[in-house]
Amino acid sequence: MRRFKLGVLGNPVAHSRSPEIHQQFAAASGISLSYEKVLVPDGTFSSVASDFLDSGFGFNITLPCKRDAWQFVDEVSKRANQAEAVNTISRTADDKLRGDNTDGPGLVNDLVQNLGWPLADRKILVIGAGGAVSGVLASLLAEGPGVLHVTNRTFEKAQKLEQKFAGATAIALDQLQESYDLVINGTSAGLSQQDLEIPGSVITGKTHCYDMIYGPGTTRFNQWCLKQAECDVADGLGMLVEQAALAFMIWFGGQVNTAPDTQAVIETIRNTLD
Ligand code: ATR
Repeated sequence: MRRFKLGVLGNPVAHSRSPEIHQQFAAASGISLSYEKVLVPDGTFSSVASDFLDSGFGFNITLPCKRDAWQFVDEVSKRANQAEAVNTISRTADDKLRGDNTDGPGLVNDLVQNLGWPLADRKILVIGAGGAVSGVLASLLAEGPGVLHVTNRTFEKAQKLEQKFAGATAIALDQLQESYDLVINGTSAGLSQQDLEIPGSVITGKTHCYDMIYGPGTTRFNQWCLKQAECDVADGLGMLVEQAALAFMIWFGGQVNTAPDTQAVIETIRNTLD
């Protein structure tokens, strides 16, 4: 049986859960694969990626290399082009390198399918305007929200996203007042144990709160949300597993009949977070 070589390239990568996730998908689908973590020193993406591809079937890309990966590939999907970021590289039938971005649809699948939080006609606030947010905005907008506001500490970056993504509206932090159906934290503030300066009025007991960060226990942002109201909160572990499932189907969709059972994998990984 063929053993497929895959991996995740980024810096850092030591923390990545992608090897376990893909091994679980592979085991359930009867596919044999190796999945390595590959550290990319600053400025070396192209050479590390090319070396990996000498024997690699494809790979995932994590921070901070997603933009480098977008520039590296021969052809790119529409959603990856909008995000200017690639998280999955595969080979086409004529051996070209194709870049895709499964982060946005991974988030939407987690919100809509796993959590049952529909987006159509809803009033959504996205906090943050960095790479994580620009990678998911097109997918959120494609669901047809009633309102999609983007706010950010550096307002100019939110305005740039408004110009780039039709349907998104930049809103300054000091203009936030009304409540939302869904509030998504796409900032990295929680990683450095920092709180966001947003008014608690954006959250009511009916608001769904989603932190794109995940970790053991309730994330810092979600703890803050729960202090504002008895709302529903979720973290980004589901998004991580869903984006991986979509990447897995890009590589193996021609060989497996059904998409991976993400729920089982989310539970397994959740139980081993530290
Ligand atoms: P990523 O690729 O993870 O999105 P990034 O592009 O560096 O990383 O973006 C980080 C985001 O988190 C930005 O929106 C950043 O706000 P600024 O644009 O004002 O820098 C936001 N962020 C990080 N720390 C923050 C904090 N302490 N308070 C508010 N926003 C923060």
